[in-house]
Amino acid sequence: MKKIIYPGSFDPLTFGHLDVLERAVKIFDKVIVAVAGNSEKTPLFSFEERIEMLRIAAKDNPKIEVDSFNGLLVEYASKKGASVILRGLRALSDFEYEFQMALTNRKLYENIETIFMMPSESYSYLSSRMIKEIASMGGDVRDFVPDYVAARLKARIQNRK
Ligand code: PNS
Repeated sequence: MKKIIYPGSFDPLTFGHLDVLERAVKIFDKVIVAVAGNSEKTPLFSFEERIEMLRIAAKDNPKIEVDSFNGLLVEYASKKGASVILRGLRALSDFEYEFQMALTNRKLYENIETIFMMPSESYSYLSSRMIKEIASMGGDVRDFVPDYVAARLKARIQNRK
């Protein structure tokens, strides 16, 4: 069984993430979407909220498992019996960080490979950070995220004001 881990902050998930996820599902038997709990970034949405939104996105697909992890990604992947990590790659600007992370992870755990998939070019400019910025300024983000994410963004930002 070909199993792959798709890790990230998913704060919040975007159409770009979902595009990569759909592509992975076509190739792998099981895709474990893993929300990182101990990222250095301060998330807008809690661990539970990010997991819940991903579960809504994945609800009709038995090939997708939504999970979470704390600590090292490679240790988590190995515990889940997965030897491949999936990362989405958008533009050249992602490359350096991803390159560093993939090689560091390989150094930590040589049996785990990282593969990259490109989202559709129509999403290649999307980032969770920019979507949060647009939402925080009252902009419409429905072209970038599913409706249930847009609604949660709006509610979260209104609560902050
Ligand atoms: O969506 P992001 O924020 O780009 O995802 C980054 C993430 C969560 C995949 C990365 O920070 C990570 O793997 N964190 C877990 C801790 C870890 O294993 N660090 C060493 C990686 S070099």
